[in-house]
Amino acid sequence: MLGLKEDSPLEMLRQFAVYFDADLTENFGAAQLFLDNKEGKGSISLYEIFPGLTAWIYDINLNSELVIDMTFSEDKPYYFGYNVNGYQLQKFPNEDQYQKIQQGQNFVIIGKPGNKAEFIVPSNINYECCYLIINPILLQNSLAGSKRRLQQDLKETFDLSDRENPYRYFGNIDTRTGTYAKIVVRNKRTDLVGRLLTEGAVMNLLGTQIEAHDYDINTENFQPNLSKKELSRITNLGDYILKNIGEKITIGKMSNHLSLSPKKLQMGLRFLYGTSANEYLTKCRLEFAKEMMHTTDKNISEICYSVGYQNRSYFSKVFEERYGILPSSYRQSFSGNNFLFEISYRSLAAENVSGNEVDSIIKTARNMNPLHNITGSIIYHRKIFFQMIEGPKKEIITLFKNIEKDSRHSDIQVMWKGSKLKRDFSDWSMATISDEGILKVPQQGETKELAINNLLGKLDYRALASENLWRKVRNIIKISSKN
Ligand SMILES: Cc1cc2nc3c(=O)[nH]c(=O)nc-3n(C[C@H](O)[C@H](O)[C@H](O)COP(=O)(O)O)c2cc1C
Repeated sequence: MLGLKEDSPLEMLRQFAVYFDADLTENFGAAQLFLDNKEGKGSISLYEIFPGLTAWIYDINLNSELVIDMTFSEDKPYYFGYNVNGYQLQKFPNEDQYQKIQQGQNFVIIGKPGNKAEFIVPSNINYECCYLIINPILLQNSLAGSKRRLQQDLKETFDLSDRENPYRYFGNIDTRTGTYAKIVVRNKRTDLVGRLLTEGAVMNLLGTQIEAHDYDINTENFQPNLSKKELSRITNLGDYILKNIGEKITIGKMSNHLSLSPKKLQMGLRFLYGTSANEYLTKCRLEFAKEMMHTTDKNISEICYSVGYQNRSYFSKVFEERYGILPSSYRQSFSGNNFLFEISYRSLAAENVSGNEVDSIIKTARNMNPLHNITGSIIYHRKIFFQMIEGPKKEIITLFKNIEKDSRHSDIQVMWKGSKLKRDFSDWSMATISDEGILKVPQQGETKELAINNLLGKLDYRALASENLWRKVRNIIKISSKN
């Protein structure tokens, strides 16, 4: 049984990854767990559509059923679910019987702080399910128009002010919701293009779910007048835009590139993303700009030009329309003193690096990092370095540029780079791995011993060098920093 503490969706996915001993890759605004071991095969993906709305997607075949014992947090998120393939069982603690949630059925679950719920994900079927997780507190802080509308819709549909118990609603079998849920479940990309595809389908999906809950109606199946092949071609549009993001891109160029008439292009984009071609183009440019604000130290003007805008104030205007905040304030919101930046990577030590050399690297780190308010940890194990550094963004980017140039290691693979609110380490330290495969990490003033022997035990050098092993170590370290 997985004892799951309700947390941000990413942190919940991390709990799943550690429980299943699965690989978890994190992209900007998206993450994906890959399972391929004795527990089963498949993936669980999540996409943050905007703060307060996340899509959580199962596409998984488990070897034994998964019982999740979930404890709800203070935030009272809403879970809108839809089973595309397979069923699910659910029960609250005061109930004797599990309720079966059927394939094709809309359902809504809202927790009550401190209360629990059990979920069972069945085994030996290809379980495909899409959950939309809405955090009303994060949504409340959001200013953009689409989010305000969503908030209003939720408020009108679910009056939860004097709710004693967790809330549950099982709806009708709804094929229109299914059309969008299928797009969400079957999209396997977590980069910018994949995120936009998911975003469009999620907004449509949520719209149909709220509507279905509101009127309890069954709507007709909706398909646009395009073949599957044509629709699939449209999903490639994002790649074309990204390749040419700094250029002027017209509707003519887009439809030429896809060999589709402008009319079909518009129809397909409306169906997939709920937008016109120009709106989609703007979304791509803005998402890319946002990603660069998080992951580079380029200034706003440089970013504005590199995503294809000639005019800084026009860029600010469209950015504000989409995200409800000016680019400069947005950047400020995660660049201030409260926000931290993390880079985690693994690298291979150079042939001639001796124990003395490693000591000297650690000594430099120990002397220099506190001066720049950098905390984190480094592991050196069988010729492999794994390092997590966290601190002010500017300092981390500068240090990492230095580290990248250092000839004492090579083949640097970045596991994660991005901002975060809390440090995982209170100071700078060296973590060690004992012969028995125990990872000793100094964290919050004590040395935590984390058993990773099942990860490292009999591994040869190739397996040790693999990125996914170190992603797992990072997850274990991050979870232990919370306990
Ligand atoms: C694997 C590895 C990890 C390193 N970690 C750090 C670190 O955390 N802090 C640091 O100041 N230098 C670290 N260094 C050393 C830097 O690459 C660089 O030598 C050091 O920052 C001095 O830079 P400078 O000569 O430009 O002053 C590391 C080097 C290696 C190979």
